[in-house]
Amino acid sequence: MPMDAHTAPVRGTAGQADPLVVIDHVDKHFGELHVLKDIDTTVARGEVVVVIGPSGSGKSTLCRAINRLETIDSGTITIDGTPLPSEGRELATLRADVGMVFQAFNLFAHKTVLENVTLAPMRVRKLSRKEAEKRGMQLLERVGVADQASKLPAQLSGGQQQRVAIARSLAMNPKVILLDEPTSALDPEMINEVLDVMVGLAKDGMTMVVVTHEMGFARKAADRVIFMADGRIEEEATPEQFFSNPRSPRAKDFLSKILAH
Ligand SMILES: Nc1ncnc2c1ncn2[C@@H]1O[C@H](COP(=O)(O)OP(=O)(O)OP(=O)(O)O)[C@@H](O)[C@H]1O
Ligand SMILES: [Mg+2]
Repeated sequence: MPMDAHTAPVRGTAGQADPLVVIDHVDKHFGELHVLKDIDTTVARGEVVVVIGPSGSGKSTLCRAINRLETIDSGTITIDGTPLPSEGRELATLRADVGMVFQAFNLFAHKTVLENVTLAPMRVRKLSRKEAEKRGMQLLERVGVADQASKLPAQLSGGQQQRVAIARSLAMNPKVILLDEPTSALDPEMINEVLDVMVGLAKDGMTMVVVTHEMGFARKAADRVIFMADGRIEEEATPEQFFSNPRSPRAKDFLSKILAH
């Protein structure tokens, strides 16, 4: 299991005890648009951070920057003590330490479910097919889709596909997993099956950064909520503090809108 290497979750001591992802004064522009403004925060090993905020506030860009799918203009991002290089083999290695799950499941359409979870471990981690398939089946079991292993992604429901996407990212043994609105493309009845898997990961001590508007998940699983607005971290707090007593007017306004429906 990918969590074996991790120590017990560091609950409530966010960012201090054992820093895993250190985001240090990061800025990014898209042309004239300043999309990340002096982002400065640390995710501790075992910590679960939920990122929320209005559309266009920079949540996806931040996730993509952590995985170097986007470059940054200034500042540094460090994963487990190693600053992210901008390119090259070293980047590929570090990127493999950061799992990523997107809103659209992004599975390989012409590969079976099992192949989807074994491909990268065989190519990148150099596992034998036998080892990769054994571990792949364990992970599919864990997310509850082992019985779908020989199907193609299109033959699965959206919720099942997203659970395969989670298993695929776990198969690389990442140190941290980033999930960008993993349930927002799903039909309502499938959201919970994916959230349940995510809560399970959180309980197992996986380090997670989750962009989501699922407040139930944030309350249940998050150690910390980061509220972004206009490219800035506007507020950071425990879920209890944030939901019961948001401090900034923008957070208050945002919460009143999303909690209204
Ligand atoms: N590749 C790009 N080129 C130019 N502008 C971009 C690009 N990607 C994102 N942006 C802009 O950067 C800003 C931040 O976008 P981002 O996708 O990070 O927001 P978000 O908080 O994830 O929003 P949403 O909740 O809608 O997913 C937006 O104004 C967006 O239009
Ligand atoms: Mg987004």
